[in-house]
Amino acid sequence: MSTDPQPVIAQKSPYAVDVEAGKDYWWCACGRSRSQPFCDGSHKVTSFTPVKFSATKTERVWFCGCKHSAHKPLCDGTHKTL
Ligand code: FES
Ligand code: FES
Repeated sequence: MSTDPQPVIAQKSPYAVDVEAGKDYWWCACGRSRSQPFCDGSHKVTSFTPVKFSATKTERVWFCGCKHSAHKPLCDGTHKTL
């Protein structure tokens, strides 16, 4: 089992997702999921665990694709510095 402290950069830009009020979403923190930006269980070989996002509104949000945001699970522009 690896304890790689750095997440994989899935992409250096956010994923726009239309979320639904009242629904929970599990954002992939490790970057290894094949169903970005969401967790597919691939983190099991890493020390990462997914981050829950509970939608309070039905709206479009931007999930971090680079996995380095300081405001996980949402993009905060950090990808521009990578
Ligand atoms: Fe990345 Fe689950 S697959 S956190
Ligand atoms: Fe990660 Fe924007 S995609 S901070």
